[in-house]
Amino acid sequence: MSKAQQPDIKRITTHQLQAMKERGEKISMLTAYDFSMARILDGAGIDVLLVGDSASNVMAGHETTLPITLDQMIYHASSVIRAVKRAFVVVDIPFGYYQGNSSEALRSAIRIMKESGAHAVKMEGGAEIKESIVRILSAGVPVMGHLGLTPQSIFKFGTYTVRAKEEEEAEKLISDAKILEECGCFGIVVEKIPAQLAKRVAEEVSIPVIGIGAGKYVDGQVLVMQDMLGITKDFKPRFLRRYADLHTIISDAVSNYVEDVKSREFPSEDEQY
Ligand code: KIV
Repeated sequence: MSKAQQPDIKRITTHQLQAMKERGEKISMLTAYDFSMARILDGAGIDVLLVGDSASNVMAGHETTLPITLDQMIYHASSVIRAVKRAFVVVDIPFGYYQGNSSEALRSAIRIMKESGAHAVKMEGGAEIKESIVRILSAGVPVMGHLGLTPQSIFKFGTYTVRAKEEEEAEKLISDAKILEECGCFGIVVEKIPAQLAKRVAEEVSIPVIGIGAGKYVDGQVLVMQDMLGITKDFKPRFLRRYADLHTIISDAVSNYVEDVKSREFPSEDEQY
């Protein structure tokens, strides 16, 4: 039995994540959207599960994260929460449910916390959403920031290429990270930015900085679960390491099953009542 599977294992909290940064222990984070997978990831010892709005892509098949609704995020989040014994669960507030004003942002965060049982919310942006972050934090809801490539703004940027390569955007990112820290965010995701810039962010703020496509110098790593398990096939960014080829494993299993059903090989005498 692994450490994470022991019955008396302590839940991960924001305080523990902070302590991990302080003692130099890297934080592991993956996305999860459903009960069965969340149970496996939690049992395997993941520190943080992100119910990402990437559910819009990998679960619902949309091209962007924009279409997913707050109700759908709450559905995914409550499924994950029911599975988890140890991991800290963060839920994205989806596009269109916090950008309008801080009252709307607070209402959305409260709905996520109340209806799913999540432990924290994540929001994309820096200075421009400061008021909303402060309001959510003052209601006692932990907030994680997200800077760099922010997929909810994809139509503003136009591409999914590496962000903040130029000095001006890099300085704005550092300044946004400091704003998020000052507001009281417990952590920041930085997506697809140069490793040296991510290193600066992790050094210049005291809260945990978790990278995706942001190199090795940050305080932890996050990947989309379907990508790292090789369920998705066509998404091949340089930063992605595949730890399994579940696409092939599942596809082979299903074609064997189809063959066995057609040939009457399944079920056998032993597999019936
Ligand atoms: O929605 C998501 O999966 C994310 C990660 C890419 C960090 O925000």
